[in-house]
Amino acid sequence: MWKYDPLKVKELIEQIDTFKTDGAGTTRLPFSEEEMRARAFVMDHMRSLGLQVTVDAIGNICGRLAGKDPQLPAVWTGSHIDTVREAGMFDGVTGVVAGLEAVRLIQENHIPHQRDICVWVYTSEESTRFGMGCVGSRAMAGHLSREELAEIKGEDGISLEQLLIDRGFDLEKFPEVKKNRGQVHAAVEVHIEQSSNLEKHKKQIGIVDAICAPSNLMLTLEGVQSHAGGTSMEDRQDAFMAAAGISLALEKWAGQGLSDYTTGTVGYLDLTPNAVNVIPGKVKMSIDVRDCDYASKKYVVDRFLKEAEVIAASRKIRLFVEEKCDDHPMACDRHIISMMEEICEDADLAWMHTFSGAYHDSLFLGEFTPVAMIFVPSRDGISHSPKEWTDWKDIHTAVFLLIESLIKLSNEI
Ligand code: GLV
Ligand code: MN
Ligand code: MN
Repeated sequence: MWKYDPLKVKELIEQIDTFKTDGAGTTRLPFSEEEMRARAFVMDHMRSLGLQVTVDAIGNICGRLAGKDPQLPAVWTGSHIDTVREAGMFDGVTGVVAGLEAVRLIQENHIPHQRDICVWVYTSEESTRFGMGCVGSRAMAGHLSREELAEIKGEDGISLEQLLIDRGFDLEKFPEVKKNRGQVHAAVEVHIEQSSNLEKHKKQIGIVDAICAPSNLMLTLEGVQSHAGGTSMEDRQDAFMAAAGISLALEKWAGQGLSDYTTGTVGYLDLTPNAVNVIPGKVKMSIDVRDCDYASKKYVVDRFLKEAEVIAASRKIRLFVEEKCDDHPMACDRHIISMMEEICEDADLAWMHTFSGAYHDSLFLGEFTPVAMIFVPSRDGISHSPKEWTDWKDIHTAVFLLIESLIKLSNEI
């Protein structure tokens, strides 16, 4: 039925992957030169498909395919194009490209649709640059104020506000970023699974029931910088040894979450002065706790922080805790889920229900519109790594499911 071009998805993903910093894998931090070039490429591509392109004050890009009745709330799809450091080429980009390919096929095949269909690129889904993720969709959900933009800073000390100004975004229009319930009919995001459930169960498609949410903290530990040989073991106040104890406490409490799935990670560690023969006087470390159950996440974070304070005090280390985010998990929409189940059954696809341990913009979109996510397998469950891989045929299957879902949703009156 579709004039399907399997090369299109591959070509687009590979083209977007040319915009990256030198080094292993793909690094494309939000608002970097490379990301700005990738944004320009995606917007050009959207225009070449005949989409109407707009960019909001926080940099979220929207490519709109007009439906028969532009008064009706639109149906959304899309994902992100920023990456963590040394990522693969599929995380985020797959969802953007799947959306672009879906609207191309809907147009080329003259499929009638009442509602507009929008393909979004959300700003800074990854927490690498700003210590909190889903910056663009968070603002859409009204969880980021104009004032906070000046306070959100990366390790380079440059604020999100400054970056937006430098990159030419119109902050006067910040109030328009926020969306309200009723403004959007539904949102469906395609994403790589980033776990190994689909692979283990030999399924091509995962229909996501719920998305886990993180608490992100930045801990600063201050001890006394001193000589590695001259300072006895009793006399030292070693900030790193406290960080080591605190890391193990995190692992312990994450293992005692109240739900079936809790994770705890120290992904960023910065030692000062970071020298072979110097006791670290200062350590900055990130804490990431995730759960699909908010109460369980809170339980783990509270217990962990209490123990972290005890560990720091016992080593005469000053501990400072900065909360970057404390987000709520999101349940996907039952109606879209059953619609997708039906499409999968009719097309005889190998699918299963699953959940997302990773973070996604859909989590915030879910606060103002019904959301659903389509997962495709990640080889060996690996992601946030140059080794990340997803088979093209699985992405094609997801594009099929996305198109069918968008057509149904955009014709719901
Ligand atoms: C994004 O990939 C996240 O889960 O942090
Ligand atoms: Mn990611
Ligand atoms: Mn992602």
